[in-house]
Amino acid sequence: MKLAPSLLAADFGNLRAEAKQVEPVAAYFHIDVMDGHFVSNLTIGPLVVNSLRRGLSRPFDIHLMIDHPLTYAPRFDVCPDDFISFHLEAKDDPKKVIGVIREAGAKVGIALRPATPLERVFPYLSIVDLVLVMSVEPGFGGQIFMPESIKRLRSLYREVGERPVLIAVDGGITTENIRLVSEAGAGLVVVGSAIFGEANRLAAVRALNEAAK
Ligand code: DX5
Ligand code: ZN
Repeated sequence: MKLAPSLLAADFGNLRAEAKQVEPVAAYFHIDVMDGHFVSNLTIGPLVVNSLRRGLSRPFDIHLMIDHPLTYAPRFDVCPDDFISFHLEAKDDPKKVIGVIREAGAKVGIALRPATPLERVFPYLSIVDLVLVMSVEPGFGGQIFMPESIKRLRSLYREVGERPVLIAVDGGITTENIRLVSEAGAGLVVVGSAIFGEANRLAAVRALNEAAK
């Protein structure tokens, strides 16, 4: 199980220093991009994300909660190990979005809102690298984990089978449920407030890793 600290819960006036604190224990930096349309919240876009890159050595896991990933995905400077995930419920044609993300040189993820039938992602499993199962309604950090997500993770894990698709889970992950999601098949666990909401971030990560065992 890999950990992706979500910077959404960090101090946005101090993003690089916040990221640096968890760099030794982060497999990826999870970055939440919101447009105020797909979700009612607004965060940062390519300009800030591309600047943030300098000085950080971990790949980025960019989570696009935006209506038009086709327009904005190519504006991120990416490394080959980065993921760009877009939502299946966004307004653009998923196949086209997958194409532009590949062309940009990143790995491709598809994210699903909690209410979206899981089967809708099945046709894409052979052409993406990651599926991000949202375990809260996207838009805000610090929400309560939706327990139904466990069943979705298990079903997805079964459906993925031998395919090289990483299953990620995002929303409400704490020491209370990290083991459950990992056992249900999540190979990448996104954690915001349970890391950046704590004064000692490294101790918080240690507690999460311990709880996952
Ligand atoms: C929510 C974001 C999450 C968020 C998770 O829309 O996609 O990445 O940062 O935060 P926590 O872990 O606090 O639920
Ligand atoms: Zn996210």
